[in-house]
Amino acid sequence: MRFRNFWCGRRRLAARLISAFFWASFLLPLLLAAPLLAAGSGEGPGPSPAPQPSSQPAPQPASPPAGADLPPAIAAIAAIPDAAPGDLAQGQRLYRANCAGCHKWHGGGGGGYGGAALSLRATALERPQIIETIACGRPGTGMPYHLRDAYAGAGCYGLAEKDLPAGMVLEANNFLRPAEIAAIADYVIATIKGRGEPTLAECRAFFGEGSRVCDIYEKPQ
Ligand code: HEC
Repeated sequence: MRFRNFWCGRRRLAARLISAFFWASFLLPLLLAAPLLAAGSGEGPGPSPAPQPSSQPAPQPASPPAGADLPPAIAAIAAIPDAAPGDLAQGQRLYRANCAGCHKWHGGGGGGYGGAALSLRATALERPQIIETIACGRPGTGMPYHLRDAYAGAGCYGLAEKDLPAGMVLEANNFLRPAEIAAIADYVIATIKGRGEPTLAECRAFFGEGSRVCDIYEKPQ
């Protein structure tokens, strides 16, 4: 037993030595070469650095022309001059007839027969996009389109109704003329967009003085 163990031990030792020699012959050149390689990469041209994102900001158009990405029919509406500040009566009348059913008189939106209408008080949309939304609606939502030819192929969002699944775009009860769409957009911007909670004064401006509808906005006595 001892004899065998002795030779076994010797063999194991030999195996270790061979293995150590084997690894040394591999690693030694590598260890020697590593500083040379490292030094080499420091000198000379070396590999070209990875392309860095340019610190220069990409050239931006000074201010994008209003409605730059709008289809021509919509851009033409957006080009209609803003209503004069005191000239919102037509916009209000049209808003009442065409929008208030879903967006409420105050534009706060909420549940209506068209689904949950977004708040026009909280909207971030600018005039060209408000005009586009009125004219084109929002495919796949309860927001109807109000421009007769919006999807006749002229291209709201580049879409044509004949290519769309049925019910994808909702037609408004009444179509509006371009000038009417602009008038509503101006009314929304002048009296609704960016406002906080609806007030008694706003309610009276909408429904007229003495309207009982506005009683709920009276301060409790
Ligand atoms: C049948 C109901 C209905 C009518 C009528 C309607 N809307 Fe809407 N509207 C909606 C719904 C629903 C949405 C939300 C669409 C969505 O989920 O993106 C919406 C969204 C909008 C938006 C987008 C708001 C935003 O911040 O993204 C605008 C602007 C808008 N409506 C304006 C109008 C105006 C102005 C009228 C009248 C000409 C009108 N809507 C008529 C239901 C209606």
